Amino acid sequence: VLLKSYNTFGIGAHARYFATFASVEDLMDLTAQQQRSNLPRMILGGGSNILFTGDFNGWMLKNELKGITVVKEDNDYVYVKAGAGENWHGFVQHCIALQLGGVENLSLIPGNVGASPMQNIGAYGVEIKDVFHELEALHLDDNRIVTFNNADCQFGYRESVFKRQYRNQFAILSVTYRLSKKPHFNTSYGAINEELQRMDVQTLSIQAISQAVINIRSSKLPNPAEIGNAGSFFKNPTIPKEQYEALHAAFPQLVAYPVANHAFKLAAGWLIEQCGWKGYRKGDAGVHAKQALVLVNYGGATGKEIYRLSQKVVDSVQAKFGVELEREVNIA
Ligand code: FAD
Ligand code: EPU
Repeated sequence: VLLKSYNTFGIGAHARYFATFASVEDLMDLTAQQQRSNLPRMILGGGSNILFTGDFNGWMLKNELKGITVVKEDNDYVYVKAGAGENWHGFVQHCIALQLGGVENLSLIPGNVGASPMQNIGAYGVEIKDVFHELEALHLDDNRIVTFNNADCQFGYRESVFKRQYRNQFAILSVTYRLSKKPHFNTSYGAINEELQRMDVQTLSIQAISQAVINIRSSKLPNPAEIGNAGSFFKNPTIPKEQYEALHAAFPQLVAYPVANHAFKLAAGWLIEQCGWKGYRKGDAGVHAKQALVLVNYGGATGKEIYRLSQKVVDSVQAKFGVELEREVNIA
């Protein structure tokens, strides 16, 4: 099966077997077949954080588990459970319509609910771990359904236990989020305040924050429907204070901010731009002209071409700044 329409990079790789599941029973049937075939499996959501560097000789299982329900409520919070196959932004809009706060800063992130804990999605000052209550996942080898609470997921910056030791072992079935009845507006990210002012917002609301985030994102991130991409290709690297001070002395314009443990997080987009990559294009593989952290496919690039370009970017940032970039996108 051609995967081009199942990944936002628009890579024309193939999967040997491709199936969708809309119930846990269907998923169990599929994994039973998969195990008999002795071929690998992969759970696919919206395909917005994957680079296929070749064909997948196994079972690609696309999650279409649906449903959004309120499971409990107390004075301050409403707990909303969503099927892993629900579209993420659709879920955000649903919460905003219910006047529930907590996910408005995460508006317009592509992909599905089920992938949101995978890399602890984050944007504009909020991460999923801030609103995550629990999830249910099926262990794919022994068909156990396991509940993970917030601590169990070991969330970090673009990290969770599902990307590390439990990689490829669980299918996330549903996620329950804890949303606020009385929203606590998070406008800590500078760009949001600027956009709210530009929009001339008089009274802050979760709707206004969502709209500000949508405006900012639309102005610099390429729309995958027009240009293939998977968002930020690399993580923003964290370096120790001493290394930061030396770099800052050599490059006074360095974009960085302090994080825990006396470390500093650098804007990888700035590092990549300084190496001259912004707007670069070779064939159909390129670096986005408005955001150097985003690699793009203008249509016919292969996954290998994108990957090779990413390696050149890594090498040049290493050579110029002595900083190692780590890929954020899942490489398959
Ligand atoms: P997929 O790409 O389908 O899968 C990603 C990984 O998770 C794969 O390894 C897959 O096997 C696994 N997986 C998916 N679903 C399940 C499941 N149910 N159970 C087990 N494993 C599963 N991310 C951010 O954090 N912040 C951003 O601001 C952001 N902006 C983006 C902007 C653009 C334009 C694009 C294209 C991407 C952006 N991303 C961002 C990345 C992406 O949207 C997120 O990582 C998203 O959560 C991926 O969801 P998905 O359903 O498409 O996952
Ligand atoms: N910058 C440049 N040149 C560029 C890009 C960025 O100089 O080409 C500098 C600018 O100074 C800018 C700063 O970097 O102010 C930060 O840029 P931006 O606000 O666009 O955010 P980012 O650090 O590049 C991160 C996330 C995004 C998330 C935004 C907003 C990572 C890897 N990326 O990008 O997430 O949407 O912040 O919170 O942490 C994604 O994960 O796919 C993603 C898009």
